[in-house]
Amino acid sequence: MSEGPRLLLLLLLPCIIILSIVRKANAGVTSSYIRHEWPSVDIPFDSPIFAAPRGYNAPQQVHITQGDYDGKAVIISWITPDEPGSNTVKYGLSQKKYEFSAQGDTVQKYKFYNYTSGYIHRCLLDGLQYNSKYYYLLGDGNSSRTFSFRTPPEINPDASYKFGIIGDLGQTFNSLETLNHYKESGAETVLFVGDLSYADQYDDGLDIAVRWDSWGRLAEQSAAYQPWIWTAGNHEIEYFPNLKEVVTFKNFAYRYPTPHLASESSSPLWYAVRRGPAHIIVLSSYSPFVRYTPQWIWLMEEFKKVDRKKTPWLIVLMHAPLYSSNEAHYMEAEGMRIVFESWFVENKVDVVFAGHVHAYERSHRVSGLMNSFEPAPNKSAPIYITVGDGGNQEGLAAKYREPQPDYSAFREASYGHSTLEIKNRTHAIYHWYRNDDGKRVPADSFVFHNQYWAIEKGTVSNMQSS
Ligand SMILES: *[C@@H]1O[C@H](CO)[C@@H](O)[C@H](O)[C@H]1NC(C)=O
Ligand SMILES: *[C@@H]1O[C@H](CO)[C@@H](O)[C@H](O)[C@H]1NC(C)=O
Ligand SMILES: *[C@@H]1O[C@H](CO)[C@@H](O)[C@H](O)[C@H]1NC(C)=O
Ligand SMILES: *[C@@H]1O[C@H](CO)[C@@H](O)[C@H](O)[C@H]1NC(C)=O
Ligand SMILES: [Fe+2]
Repeated sequence: MSEGPRLLLLLLLPCIIILSIVRKANAGVTSSYIRHEWPSVDIPFDSPIFAAPRGYNAPQQVHITQGDYDGKAVIISWITPDEPGSNTVKYGLSQKKYEFSAQGDTVQKYKFYNYTSGYIHRCLLDGLQYNSKYYYLLGDGNSSRTFSFRTPPEINPDASYKFGIIGDLGQTFNSLETLNHYKESGAETVLFVGDLSYADQYDDGLDIAVRWDSWGRLAEQSAAYQPWIWTAGNHEIEYFPNLKEVVTFKNFAYRYPTPHLASESSSPLWYAVRRGPAHIIVLSSYSPFVRYTPQWIWLMEEFKKVDRKKTPWLIVLMHAPLYSSNEAHYMEAEGMRIVFESWFVENKVDVVFAGHVHAYERSHRVSGLMNSFEPAPNKSAPIYITVGDGGNQEGLAAKYREPQPDYSAFREASYGHSTLEIKNRTHAIYHWYRNDDGKRVPADSFVFHNQYWAIEKGTVSNMQSS
């Protein structure tokens, strides 16, 4: 053994003992942390956690998402249970003084099996000022409710902005803990990587749509106050021939609009937005994506619009992970990896966030383009992060493949959420927080060097020629 590796091993030894790593010195970490968890069952429907707001026909399930390409608009959605009621959003820059108002789109109602929805409202507020706090009011008279949100900074390569990442949330006590911990993070926008309510688990059909309602009331505590950028997961498909419900993504599509037209997408299931220093591309793992399909053509065109001089941070969201060494759903997304991975490497995507696997894992920058069985380090490749650990009723995916593959930097089967705190064009701080017996504990973190503006060790360079 030469001096270099010997020294490295000596330095690493204490960590190896502390973390119970049993692999060779350059390999990743499999955390030995065993967490206490609440039973993986949904919170009872009649729990006060899901209580509807007081007042006749009061707006409920309020949530917002970005409404345009560049962050000067939001879409506000809500449901009134008894009658359409007011379809107007009053809003303004100071509390109790709503100087503006916007009219919602046509109020919608739909049926799912033997359920009829409430009155679904969606309203676009556009022409907003950047970097400003807006207050808004929904509903009528003494049933009206007020909320607020903050617009992002203007598109700017050195804007700082903190994103949160949550996936596979569901509606258990673990889900609630994830949500509570996320609210402590100070992050300003959720990148949600799919599988929202797990309502499809109520597959006798009677409670499916009802559990979309309860999830909407649960998520409101965050989603009414900051945009959640929605990615569709497999639990959104809801294809139920036995119930004669065969229109896919029906509950999701009625309730969770996205600004897909702003990025010239033909479907709300795949689209892109720019926010502060980031260009965010949302893909649909469960829609056609092979060559010549609308999603494939759209993504090829969207990559051409990416301007790293304006938005240095290029982030991709999808549900099923391209790299995961968990036994659960192993290699399930190979189809999408084969079709899209070369574009991710060519375009120097910074990070691909996914969910689906109910655990946490972070990869090194690797590419399987040359040999998919042994992905190789590649500086142009994204980091792949799986955050399918929101806490839904299916429980944790606790079994990892052994030995830990070289591409896997850190993995742990616990519930939690992540944050990506972008500082400027070269640096971001990434954290994963586990739900640790009621506490929010940072368990994985690293300094993220931008793919376009920084090379390793943070040396600034404009890699324009690449
Ligand atoms: C749906 O069917 C169930 C079981 O028959 C019943 O309890 C429920 O009230 C029905 N819901 C509606 C909205 O008709
Ligand atoms: C709310 O307003 C309605 C209609 O104006 C009225 O009938 C009701 O008594 C009010 N409720 C409360 C709690 O003030
Ligand atoms: C990274 O991947 C690209 C695309 O396959 C390839 O052209 C390049 O040579 C790779 N770089 C390294 C350092 O392996
Ligand atoms: C970018 O942020 C990092 C981390 O906060 C800091 O060390 C670095 O100096 C910043 N670079 C510029 C150009 O501001
Ligand atoms: Fe999933």
